Amino acid sequence: MNMTCRQMTPNLGAEITGIDIANLDNKTFDTIYDAFNRHSVVVIRDQNITPEQHVDFSRRFGKLMIHVLKDELLEEHPEVYLISNVVENGKPQGRPNAGQYWHSDLTYEKTPSKGSVMYAVEVPECGGDTMFAHTAAAYDALSEPMKEFLDDKTAIHHFRHAIEKYTKNIPGTAPVPEEALNARPPVEHPVIRMHPETGRKCLFVNPGFTVRIKDLALDESDTILEHLYRHMTKPQFFYRHSWQPRDIVLWDNRSLMHCAVGDYGPEQRRHMHRTTIMDSEAA
Ligand code: SIN
Repeated sequence: MNMTCRQMTPNLGAEITGIDIANLDNKTFDTIYDAFNRHSVVVIRDQNITPEQHVDFSRRFGKLMIHVLKDELLEEHPEVYLISNVVENGKPQGRPNAGQYWHSDLTYEKTPSKGSVMYAVEVPECGGDTMFAHTAAAYDALSEPMKEFLDDKTAIHHFRHAIEKYTKNIPGTAPVPEEALNARPPVEHPVIRMHPETGRKCLFVNPGFTVRIKDLALDESDTILEHLYRHMTKPQFFYRHSWQPRDIVLWDNRSLMHCAVGDYGPEQRRHMHRTTIMDSEAA
């Protein structure tokens, strides 16, 4: 097979073809790793893999994190978080409507995530895309005074924030157990974070998990965050992935936010397996 790597937009996204992720030599893996750092989203289509092969591939990027929602994990491979609207024999097969708000995965953890690897098992005929926004390109485009203002700021991130703001009262979505909410108290991360591998500065706040910027009055923090979120989601920082079955998409949570698009009906099955890689250092 001849490997190719095609950049999809100037700021983010690349598609790699001609590889089988279940049989990768080190040199090919290094090329994927390099594309992951350089393009932040890497699409690899038509991969026929087992959960074990998915986990093995993900582990090559780093240690895997186990999601706090214990009921939504694949029994034999708890590293796999199930995002699914499929119900079999009355039993939901994963978390429906997950991540349908802008966020970076697991920024509510003390050591947040380096990246995620998602495998499309079943996708709607139309809809159910995932949108990505590049937080390093967004940082670069800020004015110098705004960069200076944000430079020493710290933000508070909390799992409960996303659950209460975005996922309560959605039909068909079970409430998150209090035990899971209590298991993740608020944490602090810098608002501007240096990407440890590219050296680029990235905005490290997101509407899902960021509660507020520390030391500002609440209305000041809300105004700044609202401005940043509007800025970060400008079309030039965007890639929108339209899923096909057997797609693998890996994304860099240090330089991106993403949002799942909930525009498909319950009769359209969407069943995804996601692993989440831990960063090697705290933010
Ligand atoms: C997520 O990882 O937040 C969900 C993404 C998706 O289901 O498209």
